[in-house]
Amino acid sequence: MNDRDSLLLKALKRENLTTPPIWYMRQAGRYMPEYRNIRKKFKNFLDMCKNPEVCCELAMQPLNAFELDAAILFSDILTIPDAMGLGVTFEENKGPIFKNPIKSVVDINNIGPFNPDDLSYVYQAVTNIRNTIPENIPLIGFCGSPWTLAAYSIEGKSSKEFNKTKKFIAENIDEVHLFLSKLTDACFLYLRKQVQAGANVIQIFDSWANLLNKKDLQTFSLNYINSLILALKQDSITSDIPIILFSRDPKCDDNTLIETTADCISLYWSMENFNLDLAKGKTAIQGNLNPKVLLESKETIRNETYKLLDKFKNFPGYIFNLGHGITPDINPEKIKYLTDIVRDY
Ligand code: CP3
Repeated sequence: MNDRDSLLLKALKRENLTTPPIWYMRQAGRYMPEYRNIRKKFKNFLDMCKNPEVCCELAMQPLNAFELDAAILFSDILTIPDAMGLGVTFEENKGPIFKNPIKSVVDINNIGPFNPDDLSYVYQAVTNIRNTIPENIPLIGFCGSPWTLAAYSIEGKSSKEFNKTKKFIAENIDEVHLFLSKLTDACFLYLRKQVQAGANVIQIFDSWANLLNKKDLQTFSLNYINSLILALKQDSITSDIPIILFSRDPKCDDNTLIETTADCISLYWSMENFNLDLAKGKTAIQGNLNPKVLLESKETIRNETYKLLDKFKNFPGYIFNLGHGITPDINPEKIKYLTDIVRDY
């Protein structure tokens, strides 16, 4: 891959660019009619993820529609708990359901060593996508953060408050740390295989960082993310791969995120006061238009987008993205419009 031509890799090296690279979280998904056409052939979403040819086709859909600056692997963060035997299923329009969630300490002790080869369908999808996209378009591989994976695995489904998880942690703190360590090791092996298969950038999704207070966020989430990043930076296969950290509305100082040594912080849409002066020269920044703006008129979309671009105009290493994923209610024409106006700015 020729990284001299890649806008995303330049921004991740904190170069100041006239036009930012553009990609979107959940750029492949139900908002696209092409996606829904393929999705309806599968009852369980994970069965679709287990088909590398289909994953490649789905990852290509947004690139073909909007000429984006990066592809993202089509898969899901819950492949790891599924491979650990927790039995993850997704029925259409329902969130994830775990057949064997973590209910007790025994369940944690019984989790065997994670075998990264159980997820070879993911690496095959990576290779297929890498072989299909143009050379100068980077491919983003990803995983969930250990904390976010643990929260789903204990709760057994999605939830607003994750009260079951909070109670379980309070009662079984040592075993929760053991579980988080196992997940951290699994994430490392999984991401390394994605890189070997052709991923050029890694994004870690801490989608449930917002559940934790400042102290618990450090203890249960950031400490494990830091270990994961350190392991990746010290491994000869992954050491040169830039890492993006998406942390959803974390209750910590901005500096704590910057100090994770992620190459880029992906800002949630509500993090509009993030201290850019502190981040300057230390991390790239990705984000963070509120996806809800895309339900508004073109005029509002343009005003809000240009406000954001004004703010990041002189920031070295800026990647345009939303502050969370594209939702199914967004009209694809708005994504086309948004992409065009960012490039015209
Ligand atoms: O273009 C892309 O970004 C596609 C790849 C991708 C998916 N999920 C596909 C998907 C990525 C990077 C993810 C990450 C993911 N998965 C996260 C982190 C990002 C975030 O939103 O915070 C999380 C929390 C999950 C777990 C997950 N997957 C949930 C809770 C759900 C159900 C809710 C929903 O949005 O449908 C999913 C399903 C899922 N993952 C879909 C897609 C396209 C929709 C499934 C369907 O078509 O039925």
